[in-house]
Amino acid sequence: MKHVRVRAPGRVNLIGEHTDYNDGFVLPVSIALHVRVDGSERNDRALVLRSSRFEGERRFDLDALEPGARGDWSDYVRGITYELLRAGVKIRGAELDVSGDLPVGAGLSSSAAFEIGCALALLTLAEAYMDPLELAKLAQRSDNTHTGAHCGIMDQLACTSGRRGSALLLDTRDATIEYVPLPKDTAIFACNTMLRHEHAAGAYNERRAECRRAAELLAQRFDRGGSLRDATHTELAEARERLGDVLYRRARHVVSENARVQHFIRALEAGDLEAAGALMLDSHASLRDDFAVSCSELDLMVELAMHCEGVYGARMTGGGFGGCAIALVAEEHAEEFRRRIEREYRRATGVTPDIYAIESAGCAEARAL
Ligand code: GLA
Repeated sequence: MKHVRVRAPGRVNLIGEHTDYNDGFVLPVSIALHVRVDGSERNDRALVLRSSRFEGERRFDLDALEPGARGDWSDYVRGITYELLRAGVKIRGAELDVSGDLPVGAGLSSSAAFEIGCALALLTLAEAYMDPLELAKLAQRSDNTHTGAHCGIMDQLACTSGRRGSALLLDTRDATIEYVPLPKDTAIFACNTMLRHEHAAGAYNERRAECRRAAELLAQRFDRGGSLRDATHTELAEARERLGDVLYRRARHVVSENARVQHFIRALEAGDLEAAGALMLDSHASLRDDFAVSCSELDLMVELAMHCEGVYGARMTGGGFGGCAIALVAEEHAEEFRRRIEREYRRATGVTPDIYAIESAGCAEARAL
């Protein structure tokens, strides 16, 4: 009887938010908080799922899987299994036990880690291999068709391709990756507002549709193909009326955020952490004002972080509408930051936030036992 154990990391995104479905740039870091999957082979065609986070057991017949979202946590595994079978992988019956320390719904990419973790367990039990990009694309397709979240590829690729000590500069137009060393003598914190985000529920997909519409209008106006990646501030100014206020703002966020990723990389290369921090704040303001995906809890967390000593910058991370803000903090102030942000957020809201000192990690890994 074969057994497998998988660790699939979550991620924080340093900068480049809501750009991954616009052919843009993102800069995630895979983190030590992870989803763990313990899998064992069965000698029938049943897939049996248990999770330490959710009640009860789920059971599927591998020969009767159907696409589509049911609104249950098991959709992620049903989806990924369906896509693996469609890709021709000879999946066998299995028991999958899911656990780990990655919080769910905190904007740290627990869904992608869950999908990739289960996929790697099933692949390993089937003695099959899939390269990291292909696996990330398959997981994204699964999300798009089986869970109703029209997400980009950032979370899945950070999970399959992360590298300890580095952020991953991903150009989502062609899925090329460059590894960027994390800044020295700094700590990264993820500060959980404890407000669970629900981006499958609509606002995320709505932003995605708005971006598509803005890109179409710009392409028509300037007689070219392309996505918001190809737009410029000059074009936006010229097409402002045609776009209308909402689409203009959505597009302005994407254009400015792509530029910020490039500036952020240059600031890291130059060791200019003040400049990097200022770009994080600009990113947050743009997500709040132009893209409208922040919320008062995230804004408060960022504001409180900026009042702590040794903080270069802070911003929401992930899809938004709750979840975590990240802060880039000088190492010698790290402990004091953790105590202070926890106290101040509790004082302001009555809610005790979880504060995670982020440790970078490598990519998802499976070990046959
Ligand atoms: C979620 C999605 C990603 C990305 C971010 C926002 O995490 O899964 O694809 O769009 O939101 O940057």
